[in-house]
Amino acid sequence: MVPPYIDALSPYEAGRRSEDVQRAYGLDRVIKLASNENPLGASPMALDALRHSLDNLHIYPNSGLDLRRVLADTYETKIDNVVVGSGSDAIMANIIRTFLCDEDEVLTTEAAFIGFQILAKSRGVRYRTVPYKHWRYDLPALAAAINEHTKIVYLANPNNPTGTMFTRQEFEEFYRHVPERVLIILDEAYFEYAKDSPRYPDSMHYRYDNVITLRTFSKVYGLAGVRIGYGFAHELLIRNVLKVKLPFEPSTLAQAAAIGALADKEFVHKSLELNARALRHLTGALQSMGLTVVPSQANFLMIVLDSEATAMNLVEGLLRRGIVIRPLRAFGLLNCVRVSTGTDDQVEACVEAFQHVLPLVLAR
Ligand SMILES: Cc1ncc(COP(=O)(O)O)c(C=O)c1O
Repeated sequence: MVPPYIDALSPYEAGRRSEDVQRAYGLDRVIKLASNENPLGASPMALDALRHSLDNLHIYPNSGLDLRRVLADTYETKIDNVVVGSGSDAIMANIIRTFLCDEDEVLTTEAAFIGFQILAKSRGVRYRTVPYKHWRYDLPALAAAINEHTKIVYLANPNNPTGTMFTRQEFEEFYRHVPERVLIILDEAYFEYAKDSPRYPDSMHYRYDNVITLRTFSKVYGLAGVRIGYGFAHELLIRNVLKVKLPFEPSTLAQAAAIGALADKEFVHKSLELNARALRHLTGALQSMGLTVVPSQANFLMIVLDSEATAMNLVEGLLRRGIVIRPLRAFGLLNCVRVSTGTDDQVEACVEAFQHVLPLVLAR
């Protein structure tokens, strides 16, 4: 019954929940730095808006119209250019359903964001990749790899799991080589963390007809559990994506939370400040232990180890001390792990755990 391209997939494995790790290892405290969530929790203004929306739960949602309107105002664009969904991955799923035909191909980097890998492969089309160059998207190689079957090119900027970003100049040069019939998904899930860099190619500054920008409320706004994301594109692309979207997605609660969060400038500011501090501290401390840390523009960083065994032993050793990080085997990077940023205390505890566990792992 199951097509071979579905049979070959593995279900997505979420980062382990703190309660489960706590029980499994008999720990007093668990710090989860495995899923790039906001360590400050959810935006307080989002929580207020959520509470207010509880009175209307017996009414069907309006298909995202409220949030689309607010996003159009915020980003000074038309509502016809905005799509919203139950997380940016739901929008990605709709894009895949909308545009791909059986003979089309998808092109991206090796070890791309796992959510995209699963969605694209589940469509049963040819999935081609180009290796990283110094853990960054190799945009010239990607441009050269486009063929007559390429329908979608997926770029995440900043990228998960490497944390690296490509620059304005690199993107503009790449774009010159992409035929108009190729759709570029520009996944900006971590946009807020990188947007202040003058080299960051904020896709809202140049709207191309074949680019779909995707963003999320899961990261800096702290709403990962609510499932709400958004995107911008040419109205014709959006109109077609809306045809395949589930009619009542996103939920009333998710829309309300997102509208509240968008107005919460103070929370975003606090979150970005904490993230910058945490990244600096983590990067410096881990590098001073002799680890290869890839410089990150997001809310996590990637560590490159000498082998898969070292990576797995490190993950396991940290788990036993109550620190949950992410092995990147499922992404296709066997010898790499990813650590999300945390509060000051969480980062300190993480560094201490590394100091304890790393010598034991390396001595094995
Ligand atoms: C690059 C990238 N895109 C998309 C997502 C999914 O975001 P959402 O929670 O909006 O589905 C993530 C989440 O980790 C991500 O890292």
